[in-house]
Amino acid sequence: MVIKKCLFPAAGYGTRFLPATKAMPKEMLPVVDKPLIQYGVEEALEAGLNHIAVVTGRGKRAIADYFDVSYELEDQIKGSTKEELLAPIREILDRTVFSFTRQKAMNGLGHAILTGETLIGNEAFAVVLADDLCVGEGSGVLSQMVALYEKHQCSIVALEEIPIAETHKYGVISGHQIEDDLYEITHMVEKPTPEEAPSNLAIIGRYIFTPDIFDILRHTQPGVHDEIQITDALQEQASNGRVLGYKFKGRRFDCGSIGGFVTATNYFYEHYCSKK
Ligand code: G1P
Repeated sequence: MVIKKCLFPAAGYGTRFLPATKAMPKEMLPVVDKPLIQYGVEEALEAGLNHIAVVTGRGKRAIADYFDVSYELEDQIKGSTKEELLAPIREILDRTVFSFTRQKAMNGLGHAILTGETLIGNEAFAVVLADDLCVGEGSGVLSQMVALYEKHQCSIVALEEIPIAETHKYGVISGHQIEDDLYEITHMVEKPTPEEAPSNLAIIGRYIFTPDIFDILRHTQPGVHDEIQITDALQEQASNGRVLGYKFKGRRFDCGSIGGFVTATNYFYEHYCSKK
């Protein structure tokens, strides 16, 4: 099974960035000169996933407008030096199919992914949480994971070692190592305390799922924070079959927090923009 589709859950309110996110989606906040979500879309395209499915919600129309032609603006700047600034996004539009659906209630990441089923259908797919901005080493993180999927044909989550004091922010796994940086997961807990955490290996926002995850999500009961947790559905998948965890090569910025967002901004300014 070849993966072509990548799902972006993007219905969350972005309350940590209020008031900035009062009237605009947090996914549209710029890291230097590009909205956060564009970094994730570029990573998906690099991995060969050119069908981008977005789960949006109320107040998120700017995302759909961004990934579309801006006829009036483009006409205005035609022939000027400004035109080339739009070249990268135009190139994305030429190569990509976008589809959107709306999540009516915020019932957790598992519920957001299930809402995306209508855009994905019965095929394996990737999920990107745009808040986790990733810079791969050699190739992008999704590319690394797609290559693993081609070999193992099962659900795969990206892993990162985190300080044990931060386990309450993540899904945390335990399992046995089967190759360098690759684990067969036996146990997953969503947002454990450091005492409950089975390790310091946290799931970060890159996933590949086989489509049976949708049937599991349909009966997954609300878990931590009374929300339907993707981690709980993955636990069931791991118990019945196989789920792999991959310690990716590269770096992740937690753009869901103000500190991480600022670190990412400085990193991208130094590495890409200051040399322009
Ligand atoms: C979500 C997932 C969690 C994962 C995290 C990665 O949590 O539920 O398992 O570790 O993303 O960023 P959230 O950040 O939405 O609270």
